[in-house]
Amino acid sequence: MPVSKIVLPVGTFRAQLAETLQKVEQGQRVVIERHGAPIAALVPIGDFYVLSVREESMAKRIIFTNISGGEGKSFCTFNAAFALADMGFRVAVIDGDPQASLTKRLGLHDDPNSPAFKADHTILQVFEQDEGEIALPAPLKVGNLDVWPANRHLLEADSKISADLSRIGNLHDALLALEAQYDFILMDSKPGVSPLLSAVTAAAEHIIVPVSANKGMENLDELARLVRTARKFNSKVGIRLFVPNRMRTTNLSRRVMESLTQYSQIAPLSPSVRESTVGGEAEDARMGVTRFAPKSPLAGDIRSLVDALLQATGSKAAEVTP
Ligand SMILES: Nc1ncnc2c1ncn2[C@@H]1O[C@H](COP(=O)(O)OP(=O)(O)O)[C@@H](O)[C@H]1O
Ligand SMILES: [Mg+2]
Repeated sequence: MPVSKIVLPVGTFRAQLAETLQKVEQGQRVVIERHGAPIAALVPIGDFYVLSVREESMAKRIIFTNISGGEGKSFCTFNAAFALADMGFRVAVIDGDPQASLTKRLGLHDDPNSPAFKADHTILQVFEQDEGEIALPAPLKVGNLDVWPANRHLLEADSKISADLSRIGNLHDALLALEAQYDFILMDSKPGVSPLLSAVTAAAEHIIVPVSANKGMENLDELARLVRTARKFNSKVGIRLFVPNRMRTTNLSRRVMESLTQYSQIAPLSPSVRESTVGGEAEDARMGVTRFAPKSPLAGDIRSLVDALLQATGSKAAEVTP
């Protein structure tokens, strides 16, 4: 549906600058005319970011990973996906964990007859192909998200990749063919080192590492090794952002935050995401926090995280000082 716009002659725009800006902030688009001809447009900043990303017409491929479990990989993938889609971006989601917690949270395993339980809708398909163009099956739909779900069949990916290591690059190749269709391809990943994790990492360009304040970063060495392995297949992949997650006002959280500050040499830290029961409630409602409870403090944290993600992945146009 086209968004309505206000058309203002330059003189009126100048006279009503403050109130016009307020309207734009609230979502209104404004076209400014000189001598009856449109010369410029004002759009809300979110629309501008969408435009900047769309200009590149190349999907940003992002993996949320950390070698250990319970850090918030699935939580961040889930919430970032909904938040980005609500900003107007075209978002695809890949569940790269056979435990399928992301697929479950998206509600795709709620119906026992769901196609999300079948092997042929998962990324396993690309690791069974050796010749010709490597292609993913059609995605499933969850609202405006395109989703490649996971299920226990994805456990077979490790042996398929081990049988022919050149298949590690197959998901990467399949995603390149989809780059023009999406603004963001978000990938959730499994804990523990495995061929499947290497393949999903090699398919990404940007790595985002959630770190739970309940545990801290446990396996930086393993993470560095994973990045090295993935780089052999895709030299562009790298760590772009650490996300302090499940932060509370405890000493443990403070210590984790301090230790994370050291990692800022590797990649920036996003603003921290607090621990909140709203997270679980939103998952139970099969909705991102920014949709489920847009005014909650946790939703504010997720919006800040998404903003950091946009910056870290170069999705915001560079700012030029006049
Ligand atoms: N900021 C948060 N606030 C509340 N619960 C969270 C938060 N981050 C993660 N969780 C919960 O913690 C658990 C582990 O997170 P999850 O995303 O599944 O970790 P991972 O995918 O890294 O194994 C999940 O039940 C999730 O809902
Ligand atoms: Mg997970």
